[in-house]
Amino acid sequence: MKVTVDTSRCQGHGLCAALSPALFELDETGRSRLTGETAGRAALPDDLLEEAADAAASCPEEAIILAAD
Ligand code: F3S
Repeated sequence: MKVTVDTSRCQGHGLCAALSPALFELDETGRSRLTGETAGRAALPDDLLEEAADAAASCPEEAIILAAD
């Protein structure tokens, strides 16, 4: 699985970064982006997959996208 942030939907609620700081961080405008380590990955390791799913479920704007590789 791969995770992405749809920046056109993100409104800066910040739940993703609070739930999974290993995957998400807020940029200078308060919107989510993948951490540098995550952005360079082709696929999520299993131990982060659950965190990514929790973050996706928590985002009120549905801006966290999980998709098959
Ligand atoms: Fe943005 Fe959703 Fe996170 S609105 S900051 S992607 S919880």
